[in-house]
Amino acid sequence: QVAAASGHTVVLVDQSEEILKKSTKGIEESLKRVTKKKFADKPEAGTQFIEKTLKNLTTSTDAASVVHSTDLVIEAIVENMEVKNELFKTLDKFAPEHTIFASNTSSLPVTKMANATTRQDRFGGLHFFNPVPMMKLVEVIRTPMTSQKTFESLMDFSKAVGKSPVSCKDTPGFIVNRLLVPYMMEAVRLFERGDASKEDIDVAMKLGAGYPMGPFELLDYVGLDTSKYIIDGWHSLEPNNPLFAPSPLLNKLVEEKKLGKKTGEGFYKYK
Ligand code: 3HC
Repeated sequence: QVAAASGHTVVLVDQSEEILKKSTKGIEESLKRVTKKKFADKPEAGTQFIEKTLKNLTTSTDAASVVHSTDLVIEAIVENMEVKNELFKTLDKFAPEHTIFASNTSSLPVTKMANATTRQDRFGGLHFFNPVPMMKLVEVIRTPMTSQKTFESLMDFSKAVGKSPVSCKDTPGFIVNRLLVPYMMEAVRLFERGDASKEDIDVAMKLGAGYPMGPFELLDYVGLDTSKYIIDGWHSLEPNNPLFAPSPLLNKLVEEKKLGKKTGEGFYKYK
């Protein structure tokens, strides 16, 4: 959405036409929200902006057949290393020589993905934040093999889509999640110990620390499955680090498929 809105030609790829239809509808709705604010007193310009953006966007269910026309591939599939590597290996065969590959992974090592391809120097991380149309940050991840030219292209692309990039080495959680995920897990532990209610913890962090959402609202927004995936991965790397300890409550909610806003219930219930 943000790439198309800033004039780039985008091919959105997913597994089925049904998912693509749902994604396109989500983009249209989000564009309407952005437009309502951005073109508040120029509704005609707003309509044009939406039309132009959607013109830049096509969809496909076959990544290998569309990758030949790309300069940049941004992968945002399931957080599973084997599945990601499989995809990158295939795309590596069909993509032009100059094409840069980037992963939007939250917590997996980008270096390992780069090593699944023959373009280690043209590989990096581009980590966006929910909700992407609103959040100004992109973390640009440099592996030890990422070339200076690739790094600069990723920084330039981030700026071209209207974001403010920061750079980070390929370390677990990069900058934001390395600080944010342990903080959210500490909030869950505070609640699990019965020290405070989740509602009060959320109010406290909003009014006492100026955060736009409290930790439980944010966990529900990000998705409890995603949060559990990140913490479990880090726990297996550093089992003695108390900040990475799994939470029985989070595990229970995920087991019950209460994954947050997207499933209608997580720590809170949604209509
Ligand atoms: N698309 C377009 N516009 C959107 C939007 C979206 N998806 N979501 C919100 N907006 C805009 C709209 O203009 C909306 O106005 P509208 O309701 O009239 O359309 C406006 O934001 C205000 O939204 P809300 O009234 O719903 O609520 P807020 O004022 O609280 O803003 C928020 C929403 C921007 C999401 C804000 O609450 C926020 O910044 N929350 C924190 C988000 C955060 O921390 N994200 C990082 C998560 S970590 C992550 O993503 C990393 C990953 O690896 C796990």
